[in-house]
Amino acid sequence: MSFNADQIRKDFPSLASGIAYFDGPGGSQTPSVVGDAIAKAITQPLSNRGVNTISEKNAEEYVIRYRQSVADLLNCDPKGVVYGRSWTQLIYDFSRSISKSWKTGDEIILSELDHDSNIRPWVQAAEAHGVSVKWARVDKQSGELPVSAVTSLLSAKTRFVAVTGASNTIGTKPDIYEIGSAVKKSGALFLVDGVHLTPHAVIDFKDMPADFFGFSSYKIFGPHCASFIADPALLETINNDKLLPSTMAVPERFEFGTLPYELMAGVSAAIDYVSNLDRSATGTRREKIVQSITSFEEYEQKLFAYLEDNLKSIAGITLYGKAKDRTPTCYFNFAGVKGADLYKFMASLKVNLPAHNFYALEVSKALGLGETGAIRAGLAPYSTKDDVDRLISGIKEFLAKEAL
Ligand SMILES: Cc1ncc(COP(=O)(O)O)c(C=O)c1O
Repeated sequence: MSFNADQIRKDFPSLASGIAYFDGPGGSQTPSVVGDAIAKAITQPLSNRGVNTISEKNAEEYVIRYRQSVADLLNCDPKGVVYGRSWTQLIYDFSRSISKSWKTGDEIILSELDHDSNIRPWVQAAEAHGVSVKWARVDKQSGELPVSAVTSLLSAKTRFVAVTGASNTIGTKPDIYEIGSAVKKSGALFLVDGVHLTPHAVIDFKDMPADFFGFSSYKIFGPHCASFIADPALLETINNDKLLPSTMAVPERFEFGTLPYELMAGVSAAIDYVSNLDRSATGTRREKIVQSITSFEEYEQKLFAYLEDNLKSIAGITLYGKAKDRTPTCYFNFAGVKGADLYKFMASLKVNLPAHNFYALEVSKALGLGETGAIRAGLAPYSTKDDVDRLISGIKEFLAKEAL
């Protein structure tokens, strides 16, 4: 393994601020190569996509490269990569299209573990079509979403199942392979929200028993936009509303209006950056991505163990993430302490440690945290032991001050 956090930190201009960023699950910091790629794309000759002028060809090239880059990151077909301004927007659009074929009496299964973007659009689509929603519940003690919590709800009426690849608060990684295999056997469609999983795991969509997957590139060094992926043959069967002159071709059928070529160039640059994070990685870009993510995830998990051990040693803490398989994301609070006050205090020490439900509203309520939620500390490949030490000493300083 040749991943070195100290070495990559110089690639991120925002780290020069001295801030320790534990808000990575809300969005990572961005290396300068990504900013440069966006600036270059938008200031180069650029027109609408086409084949005649240089500026048209540039736009075309950015779109082709974007789809191929996402395909390399997720191991999927580039023709099945749909661009969207956010995962939330993509899910709203697809929920309206996919639900067109639902009938009264059909059922869908949603999980309590999910971010609201993979819950509410489906609940609202279900309401519009007289479809019942079955809820897969989180085990409150373990923080797991057991396979049976989903599979026990499958029936001949189930049309669709949505489960997150990883919780953006308690970090739980449900067994989407077991769940997906059962869902596929039942004949229902299966969607996995990969927004929190993708920055922390090698994704192989071709090997995943899922029909739909996606991620938001701003969580993994890229610009603020997202991608939705599926087999192009399945996308062909989805009937969506669109403008009359716009194409029926897949995946463009699902992309409304003129594409942001410069952001697409930014996504490609971010994926190139990921592929080079392990400096010893060799082979195709896909092979380098697999090696780099494997290396930095090993690093993150070691640092996460150090973070958790130190947090556990602080009196009065409750840690909510307890699942066996987790992303490096801690969710916690302290008896008698308002998370918002600690968040503010830590900001004064240049430690970004937000407190919220982070839109994972159902799991927050299930854990008894209501809409307030708790404090979240997430790691990124540029996080260091020094960052963690600052977090721990800052929390101790705050608690000592509160105790006076
Ligand atoms: C697991 C998960 N899903 C979905 C989203 C929403 O993504 P977007 O901001 O692209 O809509 C987030 C954002 O935090 C997330 O963490």
